[in-house]
Amino acid sequence: MIKPNMHYANLKDSYLFYNIAQKVNAYLTEHPDTHLLRMGIGDVSLPLCSSVITALHGAVDDQSAADRFHGYMPECGAPFLRETIAAHYGRRGVEITPEEVFVSSGASDELGDILDLFDRSSSALVIEPAYPAYVDANVMAGRRIVHLPSGRENGFLPEPSPKAHADLLYICSPNNPTGAVFSREQLKRWVDFANMNRSVILFDAAYEAFIEEDGLPHSIFEIDGARTCAIEICSLSKTAGFTGTRLGYTVIPKELVRHGMCFNDMWVRNRTTKTNGVSYIIQRGGAAVFTPEGQRQIMENIRYYKENARTLTKVLDRLGIWYCGGRNAPYIWLRCPDGTDSWSFFDRLLNEIQVVGTPGEGFGACGEGYFRFSTFGNSADTAEAAERLFSLLKKG
Ligand code: MLT
Repeated sequence: MIKPNMHYANLKDSYLFYNIAQKVNAYLTEHPDTHLLRMGIGDVSLPLCSSVITALHGAVDDQSAADRFHGYMPECGAPFLRETIAAHYGRRGVEITPEEVFVSSGASDELGDILDLFDRSSSALVIEPAYPAYVDANVMAGRRIVHLPSGRENGFLPEPSPKAHADLLYICSPNNPTGAVFSREQLKRWVDFANMNRSVILFDAAYEAFIEEDGLPHSIFEIDGARTCAIEICSLSKTAGFTGTRLGYTVIPKELVRHGMCFNDMWVRNRTTKTNGVSYIIQRGGAAVFTPEGQRQIMENIRYYKENARTLTKVLDRLGIWYCGGRNAPYIWLRCPDGTDSWSFFDRLLNEIQVVGTPGEGFGACGEGYFRFSTFGNSADTAEAAERLFSLLKKG
């Protein structure tokens, strides 16, 4: 009889966002006329910008013309997009070659797939609270997880230490869920730590476009020494509204070598075996994001979400609720009022004011007592949610 992957038995019953969706659907079945205000999963609400739409239409037309039609795409990405992305890094002072850029169908897919590069006996460090897929994808492969809790005392930005020793080091900055961003100096210490231990950093940069403070690094490759210890995983989901369109990219420097094996070469071997490339149409849409007009338009959308963040944080300030994030990231991470645990707070908001957020406990044990709001909703819903929250939680 075939033996299933028994590591699945070590997973939590269901994935965080699936679990929340089930609870929300059950509520809606009982209360079908409710206008729910959704600030749970970080899914965008604004449509794709016009530069992207024009490029997508053009690419559809290409597919209708014999002389412009594209069949299978190069597995690692179309040269036009790899070159565009490398040039985008170059404009920010980071030198990478197009061959170091791999086009993907999105960061979450890639975060799971990339684990093929590492032996199953390697351990994985997860700085918690953390995006839950880091843990789940490694549990599925049977890897040992090293949980490194963080908290208010270190601004949710822990330093490397012997307790953080592992083969793979997940770093997400700006962070999901806390919104905290590592400074250059802090990241340099992680890079030195990884090089010293011959570990590899998986740097999740999905939220880099939300950084507004000067001097904070958008890419780990802004840090000296990162080319010998890091892989960067990026996404157009939050940057440019591609959650439903699906496109991302991964940077693997040629110098990243362990045991004589070059991870860039290995990923070429992996992609050429396991994919037939990302759709031509979508890659054309993605390239439009990096044009000057595309950049202007996506930043306009990002400013809209940041205004949502301000709407929510103003209310949290009036309520005297502790929070962080919302400035360099699209998430607000708050302390549940009155010592409530995070799932009880979730239930209370859902049942009493029909607002959906994400319980902090879903991001790891040290997230207990915290709660996350996504700022990706539409502004009218966000304003309504802020008002309902104020009415529910104001004292006296
Ligand atoms: C989140 O809400 O944490 C993210 O949207 C999930 C994801 O990117 O898959």
